[in-house]
Amino acid sequence: MPAPTPNRATKGAAAPDMPPGPQLIRGEILHFLADPGPGWNADATPAFAHHEDGGLLIMAGRVQICGAWDEVRAAAPPATPLTDHRGRLIVPGFVDTHVHYPQTDIIASPGHGLLDWLERFAFPAERRFEEPAVAQEVAGYFCDELLRNGTTTALVFGTVHPHSVDALFGAAQERGLRLMAGKVMMDRNCPDFLRDTAQSSYDDSKRLIERWQGVGRLGYAITPRFAATSSPEQLEAAGALAREFPAVPVHSHVAENTAEVALIRELYPWSRSYLDVYDRHGLLKAHSVYAHGIYLDAQDRRRMADSGTALAFCPTSNLFLGSGLLDLGQVLDDGIRVGIGSDVGGGTSFSLLRTLAAGYQVAHLKDYRISPLQAFYLATLSGACALGLEQQIGNFAPGKEADFIVLDPAATPLLARRMATAQSLAERLFLWMILGDDRAIAASYVMGRLLWQRPS
Ligand code: GUN
Ligand code: FE
Repeated sequence: MPAPTPNRATKGAAAPDMPPGPQLIRGEILHFLADPGPGWNADATPAFAHHEDGGLLIMAGRVQICGAWDEVRAAAPPATPLTDHRGRLIVPGFVDTHVHYPQTDIIASPGHGLLDWLERFAFPAERRFEEPAVAQEVAGYFCDELLRNGTTTALVFGTVHPHSVDALFGAAQERGLRLMAGKVMMDRNCPDFLRDTAQSSYDDSKRLIERWQGVGRLGYAITPRFAATSSPEQLEAAGALAREFPAVPVHSHVAENTAEVALIRELYPWSRSYLDVYDRHGLLKAHSVYAHGIYLDAQDRRRMADSGTALAFCPTSNLFLGSGLLDLGQVLDDGIRVGIGSDVGGGTSFSLLRTLAAGYQVAHLKDYRISPLQAFYLATLSGACALGLEQQIGNFAPGKEADFIVLDPAATPLLARRMATAQSLAERLFLWMILGDDRAIAASYVMGRLLWQRPS
């Protein structure tokens, strides 16, 4: 059964410069090749590959072959070590397209809407990151918590302090995790202790891009917090970085909350809409990600789709902070790239299974039914596409980095009981997404290395 190596995510366990030799993984395997859409019929679409008795041949941390077990076994060199996960489901690692690592310790803090929550909880929590030792400790915990929840790639907010990004990238590097992150740019409407300037934020971000962009599995994201906490001069500076570094995306928030939208209207009276503020500063660009987008209008949505800007759907956060209900069906119809965002600490769980459960319910209230196949697509390949990482991760196409997780159908007594009556793959996926959480993640592998194994 599972490899006898670490049962905790272990610091330093995955030096990315030491690729493992060939290895075979056996088990039921599912991965996506395209959007399966909202239908439940698993047999009706070529959008995914499903092998009841499947195999992965991994070489140097990358997928060599994914297919039926007999076929994969026959292609493997003699004496290739095998890890047997039969009885469980192997899927690509989850991609969290919006999360704040400095808010790990204020998850589940009750604010009265976004702006109050930021003042009372988020800003004081982020102040603690003045201290590099705090950033380092939280960064390590955060990376391990991602792995425990089956998330193997994330797009992450740091704090205003440049060393918060160094600490996070350092922790990701030790584990071999693929991560994107950036230093928050924030020069107004925030406490003095978290304020930078247009010039210092430009200089610090540029230095971080030069230090980290494309180093191993790491990528930088230009990170203006949101239009309310940046002066027009700072948004100009962010736009200048976006032009100077064409491969570096922008990561921010948009149209999350009605009071926030009203504040943006006051601060930028010349602007047609909230999204237009970013657009006018050159901040909509392919593979950039904006979280929430609940209050975008039709013109905004068209602009997002045309520019290749992705939207991070953050349903637990939108419910918890009372922000509103995203019309996911409309967003998908308009052709916008969508990823799933935990948005911890506004969001209430690191688990993308729990996030999908909330997403299903929110979408339902807006007359759209996310199918279980589509849910797993959104949390894997669609997230990878949102981040422009579809050549590297998101499914098990040959050459992709072997980031995958193992789902346990018997993670809890109730899940086991309910799974026993499930007839189809789609039904089983639905049970994992509605009843599952971190307990359902039996193991997480990064570049073919076991980095998390749930104690049995
Ligand atoms: N908008 C600006 N900052 C934040 C944040 O930290 N969390 C959320 N949910 N929305 C924001
Ligand atoms: Fe957020």
